[in-house]
Amino acid sequence: MDNFSFYNPTRIIFGAGSVPRAGKEAKKIGGKALLVYGKNSIKTNGVYAQLTESLKKNGVEWLEHPGVKPNPALSHVREGVKKAKENGCGFIIAAGGGSVIDESKAIAAGANYEGDVWDFFCGKARISSALPLITVLTIPATGSEMNSGFVVTNEETKQKYSSGSPFSFPKVSILDPETTYSLPKEQTAYGASDAVCHLIEAYFSTKDSDNLVTDNFVHGIVKSVMKSTERIMKDPRDYNARAAMMWSATLALNGLQSLGYKKAEFTNHAIEHSLSAIYDMPHGLGLAVIMPAYFRHYVKKNGPERLYGFGREIFGITQSDPLKGAEETVKALENWLKGLGLKIKLSENGVPEKDFADIAANAMGLVNLWGMTITEKEVLEILKLAK
Ligand code: NZQ
Ligand code: ZN
Repeated sequence: MDNFSFYNPTRIIFGAGSVPRAGKEAKKIGGKALLVYGKNSIKTNGVYAQLTESLKKNGVEWLEHPGVKPNPALSHVREGVKKAKENGCGFIIAAGGGSVIDESKAIAAGANYEGDVWDFFCGKARISSALPLITVLTIPATGSEMNSGFVVTNEETKQKYSSGSPFSFPKVSILDPETTYSLPKEQTAYGASDAVCHLIEAYFSTKDSDNLVTDNFVHGIVKSVMKSTERIMKDPRDYNARAAMMWSATLALNGLQSLGYKKAEFTNHAIEHSLSAIYDMPHGLGLAVIMPAYFRHYVKKNGPERLYGFGREIFGITQSDPLKGAEETVKALENWLKGLGLKIKLSENGVPEKDFADIAANAMGLVNLWGMTITEKEVLEILKLAK
């Protein structure tokens, strides 16, 4: 197990009926809030009404910044920064999924900065402070509610880049599983694919794989994501399954999933962000396409043992030949993803082979920013395995 230092200051308020607790939390921070949300899901599922009622009750003033799109756009972030600065907003409330939370984190950092917020994404500046952030999560997927990272797309340059800092953790995140009853099936599927991918990135890229705690943490949360998603697909109002999925997705990327792993890399994510940047593909869908291909490439490069071990734990696969066991594991993963209704090939998702070189070149921007070791040639190989 590698040495580590772990810091996570986000307070989680979890459970049915917890959205109205936002008002009290907002009052504790004080000042005017910028309320950030997406299109209309929070208005149709009752989250907006519960939230604004609680703000009124607690005498909290707010200004709205609606219209965050999935794969949030830099231009909309810049508008939010301007609004927060011009109106003297002292903190942010994000109500929605990962896109809303990520855009809110970017606004929170940008509001305390003189220059352009994109500086934080392209390595030109570091975040040295940010407005406090409260989140009301409505999709279990990204883990953004309990981590310090955020991802934004520069629509002009087609770069989907990330940023983050210790100042970017939400102060409080409210997780009410009932807010997820209204999720369309495909969003539930994207969230499950994303959470599984968060759990496997460091697990498979670590240079030191003798880490019983984190390995078993990963096995446990992957199983919880898979089992709860199966139940949700059968009965969208299964509260305990919604609750298990919501907490699992948070745990899948709050830092615990990679503790003690050495030099972990986010290969699937670097490639997926290129797909989202160019085709505006939903993040979880892009990962569902890349993951099986990544695993086939992984076996060629690293041998089958660790993947087969994962398959034994997660899918109960038994094979005398580890290579066969690893291939069965990839097939079991593919079947799970397909069972969620996801199309797991690039061609099925409108991405032609003639674009692969551009996708790979675009992914290398992030590979370099993140200091990862995968080469452009390998990225191309993975894309070909996903065609
Ligand atoms: O816009 P509205 O109307 O709110 O609809 C949203 C949106 O269309 C809808 N939705 C959200 N909650 C709902 C709901 N519909 C019905 N009922 C509800 N309860 O879902 C759609 C997708 O929302 P989005 O926020 O984009 O989904 P997700 O949570 O999957 O976030 C994806 C974004 O997060 C980034 C991704 O790259 C992507 O941009 N990620 C952020 C990470 C982080 N900060 O740590 C890590 C991840 O790896 C990821 O990169
Ligand atoms: Zn992700």
